[in-house]
This record gives sequence, C-alpha cells and structure tokens, in this order.
Amino acid sequence: MVGSVKMIGVVGGGQMGSGIAQLAAMYGFDVCLLDLNSQALSTASSSISSSINRLVSKSHISQATASDAFKRLRFTTNLNDLSVADFVIEAVVESEVVKKTLFVQLDKIAKTSAILASNTSSISITRLASSTTRPQQVIGMHFMNPPPVMKLIEIVRGADTSDETFAATKALSQRLGKTVITSQDYSGFIVNRILMPMINEAFYALYTHVATKEDIDTGMKLGTNHPMGPLELADFIGLDVCLSIMKVLHAGLGENKYAPCPLLVQYVDAGRLGKKRGIGVYDYSKEPRSIKS
Ligand code: NAI
Repeated sequence: MVGSVKMIGVVGGGQMGSGIAQLAAMYGFDVCLLDLNSQALSTASSSISSSINRLVSKSHISQATASDAFKRLRFTTNLNDLSVADFVIEAVVESEVVKKTLFVQLDKIAKTSAILASNTSSISITRLASSTTRPQQVIGMHFMNPPPVMKLIEIVRGADTSDETFAATKALSQRLGKTVITSQDYSGFIVNRILMPMINEAFYALYTHVATKEDIDTGMKLGTNHPMGPLELADFIGLDVCLSIMKVLHAGLGENKYAPCPLLVQYVDAGRLGKKRGIGVYDYSKEPRSIKS
C-alpha cells in the first residue's frame, strides 16, 4: 500500500503538524497541511521555511531539494481538501474529544482506502478508532519533537488495527528515514510512559524545594547523560501537552504516583506553557535565557 502513498494529509499545523508536513515534503510526498486557524497556518508556513532554509545554509540539503519540498506543500483550512489524501496524520491538540470529533469527520471525507493515523502522545488509539467505520485502518504514529530531526517513530496498534495497516505505516515511517518501535495500546505507550513520570517528578522536586530548576536540569544532564534536563524538555514539549499526558496516565493506569504535580497544573493555569509561549519553567523572552521567579 505504501508504494501507492503519494499525498499525505496532515491535520493540525502546530509544532508537530508543521514538522511532520515539512518532513513528508522533504521526502518527496505531496502534502496538504490543514488547521482550523489560518494564523496557525501562516506561523507553520514561516517556521517550515526557516527550518528548510537552515538546512540549506548548513548544506544538509540542496537548494533544489528545498524548492521541490516547498512546491509539494499546500496549506488549507478546508477539511474536504483531504479527500484526495492516501494517508492522513492528525496532530491536533491532545484532547480526546477534539480528536474523536475529527476522526468522525475524516472517516466521512477520506478515501475508503486511506489510513488514518494519530500522532497522539497518550490517548487510546482503540477509542479513537471506535469513532470511525474503519477501525482496522486507524493506527498511532507517534513522532518525536522535532519531527524532521528526531529519528524515532513509535507505532501504536489499536485493538482492531490490521496487519496490513501496521505494515503500511511501518514502511511509510521507514521511507521518512525513521526507526520504528511498536507499542501496544496502553496509556503513554512506551516513551511517554517512562518520560512523563520523570518530568512530573522533576516538577515535584521543584515544588517541594528539593533544588533549583537549574540544579535539577544540570543533575539530569550531567548525572545521567540526558541532552536536556527534564524541566527544559517540558518547556520544549509544552507544559499543556505534559499535563494532558499525565492526566491520561493517571486516569488510565489508576495509581496516585501518576497524579500531575500541582506546580505543573498551576503553570498551565497561568498560561506558562513553555517555549511556544515565551515562558514556562524558564523565561525565553530575553536572550540568553533567564529565570522568571
Ligand atoms: P500545538 O498546540 O502546537 O498545535 C495544535 C494545533 O492543532 C493548533 O495549531 C490548533 O489550531 C490545531 N487544531 C486544534 N483543533 C483542530 C481541529 N479540530 N482541526 C484542525 N486543527 C486543529 O500542539 P503540538 O505540540 O503540535 O501537539 C499536537 C499533537 O502532537 C498532540 O496530540 C500532542 O500530544 C502530540 N505530540 C506532541 C509532542 C510535543 O513535543 N509537543 C511530541 C509528540 C506528539
């Protein structure tokens, strides 16, 4: 099936959707990127062009490859434009209600042969699939952030995902230059099941005054060889995304150890969502990065 994938629809033009669209266009696919919000699309368009231009200036790709990638990209706010896509990847906000509503709509307009993939970090693929009439063609395709750079895709099989859908998604992931790991459909899958409790624990360490944010991050960077500390990584992912995933882990796995840290909740309530908002645990409004108390 994957050999016949020519056009990929990407839904949600935020940090993940724009990165997935860029990646797919650079690997030769026609891409249609949809967002409800036209402002999000113009932000996506400029972030894709600065990212691609950066790759050209560092000689990672040629000017010709960059121009070809731009030509393959379309931006739209009209869902019907995805009716010609062979494969659809959704990367809208991490909300089960929003994603389910979208899957109902996609199921109605997408080609009957199209696979519907979700980039969800933690929401049950089985439940998303059950809102469609084609659960065998629904699958989790969890890219890491940023998608053009990170080498991994975590594929998540829902209860009804067919072997054919799995094989096509794996082949597509490999055509996008990624290594694949496979997870069963349990809260948090593999990566976030392990990563998010660590980030949440870092918030608890900060909340209970064990140490400063800088020492928590330095401790994990130099003490465990992580490229980023957990608090700066949380800012990079988005604190709202981290909180949503912790809530899914808490509800799905039912243990108190997954309860979101009150400090994480408070930051999200205050709109301190991380790097995308200019402030999270750290303040990004000034250069070099400084701390807002
Ligand atoms: P984001 O907040 O940057 O972007 C979400 C976009 O979805 C926004 O532009 C919004 O306008 C759009 N949107 C919302 N509802 C929509 C709808 N019904 N139709 C079309 N567009 C809609 O979020 P981000 O960080 O890109 O995350 C998106 C998804 O990717 C989430 O499921 C998240 O859990 C997952 N993810 C996030 C990672 C991260 O590091 N931020 C890593 C891996 C997965």
